[in-house]
Amino acid sequence: MKNRAIGVLDSGVGGLTVARELMRQLPHEQIIYVGDTLRCPYGPRPEDEIREFTWEMIDFLVAADVKLIVIACNTATAVVLKEARAKLDIPVIGVIDPGARAAVKVTRSKKIGVIGTKMTVESNSYVRSLKHVEGQIEVRSLACPPFVPLVESGQIEGDYVERVVRSTLAPLIGQPMDTLILGCTHYPILAPVIGKVMGPDIKLISSGDETALEAAALLDYSDMEAERLDVPEHDFHATGDVEAFDRIASDWLGRTVRAKRLKLGKEGDVNAFR
Ligand code: DGL
Repeated sequence: MKNRAIGVLDSGVGGLTVARELMRQLPHEQIIYVGDTLRCPYGPRPEDEIREFTWEMIDFLVAADVKLIVIACNTATAVVLKEARAKLDIPVIGVIDPGARAAVKVTRSKKIGVIGTKMTVESNSYVRSLKHVEGQIEVRSLACPPFVPLVESGQIEGDYVERVVRSTLAPLIGQPMDTLILGCTHYPILAPVIGKVMGPDIKLISSGDETALEAAALLDYSDMEAERLDVPEHDFHATGDVEAFDRIASDWLGRTVRAKRLKLGKEGDVNAFR
């Protein structure tokens, strides 16, 4: 029971930035990861579609008998977290509140930037969450649609990437802020370039660390921590090109990843574990 896995989902490889923190902070927990790389990006899609696709991943993880689901995608968190918590009888964690908490902890000027997908920015979820933690915060938000396709295609450094990042972030460069929330789990993979473009005075916040802390606290509180002493094998599933996924995941996680090809939605069956 306690050794059931933690389910982690994202539209693609972005959730690996959260999975890496989970693995670091909770080394005895097994992770089952699902990335919907075939239908990524979610950010520009209509809300109903994001809901439908996210539920397909949730159903897959529930069928795999996970004990906790981490929605390691800001876009899916903005759309589905509330209803997933209401419908499921296992706990569900999102990444927006942890990201907001982490930013409030480090800002001194209380002026914070948020970058994310179109859906995340339009949902205003970060503004609500930040103001809930600290009423005086001033927020500047910007949607960065070119970033996710860069990361999914493995383009994370070099002149071209820097040009794209610089031109996308232009509206925020020089604006009064001391902290920038990477409000899409893909963006930490671009953090070296984003940091270079924004300059050394801006602290970059990823939600992975704080999300893993929340997961650890929840497992401890509900007495659901794994009882094993070894480091378990994790289980990765991707709906698109598994070799491309394996390359990015192996680099990011610093271990060899061999994902299984998963068919969701019209393509197939969510019953792999049933
Ligand atoms: N990684 C995702 C997020 O945190 C979604 C990216 C996308 O599919 O557009 O928002």
